[in-house]
Amino acid sequence: MKKIIIIGGGAMGSAFTIPCLENNNNVTITEPYSKRFIKDLSSKNKFHSALNIRLPKNLKFRKFSRDLLKEQFDLVVIALSLSGIDFIGKELKNLKIKTPILVLTKGLKYEKKINKILTISEQLKKNYKGMNISVLKGPCLAKELARKNQTSVVIANKDIKVAKSIGKLISTKYYLTEYTKDIIGVEVCSAIKNIYSMIIGAGQSLNAASNLFQKSIIEMKYLTKYFKGKDETTSGLAGVGDLYVSAAGGRNSKMGSYLGKGFTFKTAKKKFMSKDTVEGEQLAREIAPFVFKKIDKKKIPLMINLLKTIIGNKKLKIKV
Ligand SMILES: NC(=O)c1ccc[n+]([C@@H]2O[C@H](COP(=O)([O-])OP(=O)(O)OC[C@H]3O[C@@H](n4cnc5c(N)ncnc54)[C@H](O)[C@@H]3O)[C@@H](O)[C@H]2O)c1
Repeated sequence: MKKIIIIGGGAMGSAFTIPCLENNNNVTITEPYSKRFIKDLSSKNKFHSALNIRLPKNLKFRKFSRDLLKEQFDLVVIALSLSGIDFIGKELKNLKIKTPILVLTKGLKYEKKINKILTISEQLKKNYKGMNISVLKGPCLAKELARKNQTSVVIANKDIKVAKSIGKLISTKYYLTEYTKDIIGVEVCSAIKNIYSMIIGAGQSLNAASNLFQKSIIEMKYLTKYFKGKDETTSGLAGVGDLYVSAAGGRNSKMGSYLGKGFTFKTAKKKFMSKDTVEGEQLAREIAPFVFKKIDKKKIPLMINLLKTIIGNKKLKIKV
């Protein structure tokens, strides 16, 4: 039995506790930010309002604190959304922990001072280089995982042995894990698929969406290579795999469908999705300054179009 702590009690962090517990680990979840999730997780019946299920009774909830992070765990899992990464990076900085860290968060960050796009693991390492970080990505709807629907994901670490040892702790019959050394490729693909699923969602018929799907993959391959990831990673679970699930049904593709109908982003958000977080929009705003300046526009016309649509609040110009 290993001790696992999951930081982030949102949909994904909470769903992730289920395979971890099934493997007879001692699992603690903590929530640093959201009052709603603290209330859910500390309630007697552990009903999770985003997953719409009761979490297992043997899941422990602990109040978030620095002292909690100082305790001895075998695995630290980060399941916060992108906006929580800066915060947790600073919290972990002074602790200099050597414990393996597994990041579930998807996204990229533009570091203005050095004019570079950083992956989440790079951003965390900025605080403390010695962190032992693996990332886990792939097509995984939290609600499906929580219901034990079969899910396959990929764990990346430069040292494949570390990735495999984490896989051993968390994989079950319904939660299957693959492994790769290509951390950068996995992180880039799992982030940019949020933008490409908006683009595919803009297709107003299956035929049009398929055409956009195929062209999106070509652009994803280009961008993955640009950021020094491996070509084959785009065809893997973190690339095409995750793109499929996001394009088939998710908040990004839903927003894309409104853009494809001719709404501007602001109107569509206000009218149809006022309470939803659209991760692709957040990423578009984050990386746009870098993409516009540094990347050959001819190589990524769909991405450029979408970024201009969101940043300028203009109508989408892709022919759909
Ligand atoms: N790796 C995977 O298999 C996988 C699957 C699904 C989602 N995800 C990713 O996991 C992340 C979380 O997704 P989710 O569906 O659980 O989202 P969610 O909205 O349900 O939960 C978000 C979590 O982030 C925290 N948070 C939000 N803003 C914060 C801030 N400013 N400071 C500190 N904490 C903050 C919230 O309190 C909550 O714990 C996203 O990046 C998502 O893309 C990963």
